[in-house]
Order: sequence, then C-alpha cells, then structure tokens
Amino acid sequence: MLATQQVLPPSASVTADGNLSIGGCDLVALAEEFGTPLVIYDEHHLRATARAYVAAYSELGIDADVIYASKAYFGLGVLRILREEGLSIDVASGGELHAALTAGFAPEQIYLHGNNKSPHEILEAIQAGVGVIVVDGFDEISTIARAAAAHDRIQKVLIRVTPGVDPATHAAIATGQVDSKFGFSLAGDAQRGVAAIRDSAHLSLIGIHAHLGSQLFDLSIFGPTAEVLADFAREVGADDIDVVDLGGGLGVAYTRDHAPPTIEEFAQAQADALRSAFASRGLTVPRLLCEPGRSMVGRAGVTIYRVGGIKRIPGVRTYLSVDGGMSDLLRPMLYGAVYEPIVANRANDAASQTYRVVGKHCESGDILVAEAQLPEVQIGDVLCLPATGAYGVSMASNYNGQPRPAVVCVADGRARLITRRETYDDILGRDLV
Ligand SMILES: Cc1ncc(COP(=O)(O)O)c(C=O)c1O
Repeated sequence: MLATQQVLPPSASVTADGNLSIGGCDLVALAEEFGTPLVIYDEHHLRATARAYVAAYSELGIDADVIYASKAYFGLGVLRILREEGLSIDVASGGELHAALTAGFAPEQIYLHGNNKSPHEILEAIQAGVGVIVVDGFDEISTIARAAAAHDRIQKVLIRVTPGVDPATHAAIATGQVDSKFGFSLAGDAQRGVAAIRDSAHLSLIGIHAHLGSQLFDLSIFGPTAEVLADFAREVGADDIDVVDLGGGLGVAYTRDHAPPTIEEFAQAQADALRSAFASRGLTVPRLLCEPGRSMVGRAGVTIYRVGGIKRIPGVRTYLSVDGGMSDLLRPMLYGAVYEPIVANRANDAASQTYRVVGKHCESGDILVAEAQLPEVQIGDVLCLPATGAYGVSMASNYNGQPRPAVVCVADGRARLITRRETYDDILGRDLV
C-alpha cells in the first residue's frame, strides 16, 4: 500500500524493482516505450467509476441519468469506454459534440452546453439530433428555435439557472453564484427565459439545470440549491419541469490530505435534496440528472515526465525540471492546483528533500508543484503526477512548439496507445505558407 494510494488508481502498486505500476504496467517501462510526457488511464478504474455512479443512483431508487462531462477529458479511447458503460454525455462545444458522435454516443444521449454556443454549433447539434440543449442565455433561444424549425424538429431544452449558492471552491471553478457568466439569474431573467422557451412551437422545456462548481467537498449545498429550484419550479408552473440537472462537481483527492466525499455520498446528497425540496412543496419529484467530469476520470489518469534538469540554489531552493509543464497540465497555473508527485523508478524510497517541480516552458510561472517532498532525484528519473485524468491533457496547448502528449490506456498488464504523440508537423499542419 503506497502512502499516496488514494490519489492513484486502486491498481497502483510497486514492482519488485521499486517501480510504480498501474493496471499491471510498469510506468518506467511505459516511459521507455511511449516516451514522456505520457498520460496513462487505468481502464478498469474508469469502468468501475462509471458503474459506481450508475449503481449509486439506482440503489437510491431515484429515476436518474449519469451524464459524463466530457470537458474533463474528451479523448476517443476514454469516451468509448464510458459509452460502453452506458453513460450519457455533456458536450460544451462543436468539437466535443464531434468527439461524442465519433465515439459512438447516440445523439439522444448528448446534452449540449455552453454560455456562447455559436449559431453554427447550434445547427450542428440540431442536425445531429442531440437529445437536449441546455439554454444558457436569451440570445440563443431564438437561434435554437429557428434551427429546430428549419429541421422540422421540436428540440428538448433545459434552462440553466444560477441558484445563488456560493460553493466553497476556487472562484475560477465556482458557477452557482449570481455573479456568473453562466445561466439565467432567478431574479426575473429565468422566469422570462422560461416564458420565451414556452412561447416557441419548436422548443420543449423539460426542466431546470444548475451546476454549482467543481472540486466540491461540502455536499450540504445541494439542500439549499434544490429548495431554490423547487421554488422556481412552483413559481413558473411545474407541469413541464420533469427533469432537474444538479450538475457535477464532486471533488477528488490530489494529495494525501484531501478526503473528498464518495460517489455514493454525492448521489445521496443530490437525491435527498431533490426529493425533500420537491415533495415538501407537493410537487412531483423530477428525474435527476448529474454531470460528473473530474470525479469520473480524474483519479484514473496519471502523467509521467522525465527529469531533465536539477538546479540547486543554496539557501533558496532546488528546481527540478521535467519535459512537460503548463502545455500539458495548466491547472496549477490557472488556479493554484496542488499535486503530490512520486518518483516512479524509486516509488518505495522515503522523501528526504524539498523540490520545486517546474516545466520546460519560457515562463517562471510554469510551476507544476511548488513544494514537492521527494527522495533524492537524479537526471533521467521518471516523475509521476497522480490524479491528472481530468482537466489535464484536455487543456493542453502547443506553447513553445511543444507537441501534446501521447495517451495510453492500461489494463491487465497491457498498454494500449489511444492517442499518439503530436508531431512537429501536426503542430504546423494548419499553417498556410
Ligand atoms: C455544466 C457543467 N456540468 C458539469 C461539469 C463537470 O464538473 P466536474 O468536473 O466538477 O464534475 C462542469 C464543469 O465545469 C460544468 O460546467
């Protein structure tokens, strides 16, 4: 049992050589075979997490649907696995819609989100026949209605509202508060939005959506949220409010100090909140939708890097440079996210030094881990950052001309390349000279 087992997929173990292994695959061998930086997903853990979500709601006896928020990671290899596990999918752009369709999701399993869906994206979604569009603002109501009319369809929609609940999370990933670019405020806009949707012969309102924020540890916020939504449903007339989508948000452990709620606790908190708020107002309890992203794929993924430089500044600190950085893992720079790295080729060695783990990019802020406790590190060591499966490579860029990493899926001692490493020609391939 590793000290940091809870931030790694449950299959993580240490080989007789002292190397970290996941899904029966030695990470040092994977670094040799596929190069670094390399993102590795544990297939069994992805499947187990999807099943745990579906089971958690069904065991509560509530009518629910689990919708994977593909912004967390939309690589086709992982999308296919989650589709096979029977999940629906949330897409927030034309690109994610294309990925979902390519991965084989049935159009009716797709929910289109976005606070600024372009008319073209709306058209693509309607042409594809997506199940539900989540309406985020007044401007898009007529665009969706026109596109639906042009295709002789009645498009199902949810209205996204900001319930005015401030989640205890970083401001950059909080969305449920009134001061948000997402959704309709309940102080009049949402009511007018409902009226405008109901006025259209080509839109069918099926319910309400509210996503509070991400990396949530305090589930008590679903209580007041559901109360606000039930009041809103009663105010606008609950006849067509058959569905309430309480969004995603369940946090994951990035370090051994993090203790997020379980999937079962998350499902229970959402289900209890919804049942109590609607039943206590004499309203039929709607179907519950949830949209987990981070907690679906975060712990299943790790990233490995090769250490290429060590710079000791006496009395100041020691910098440890790896061959990736902000181009494959932006979260530490975006909102101070923390990670707890492991030297994969000496996974059993006790920490003896403090390092600042930095990337290779031309920014002093390219810091992956500000204070990492590690054994003595040498050039050529393989460094593993656990819990990078969500909002990691999905935010990758080509800054400094860095090719985006390869992605492999591991299970039962076999590694399958699911995304090849980008080439220099891939990076320049769109440039017209
Ligand atoms: C509308 C919506 N649903 C679901 C999610 C997924 O949240 P999480 O990854 O925290 O589960 C997000 C994340 O930003 C979101 O904006």
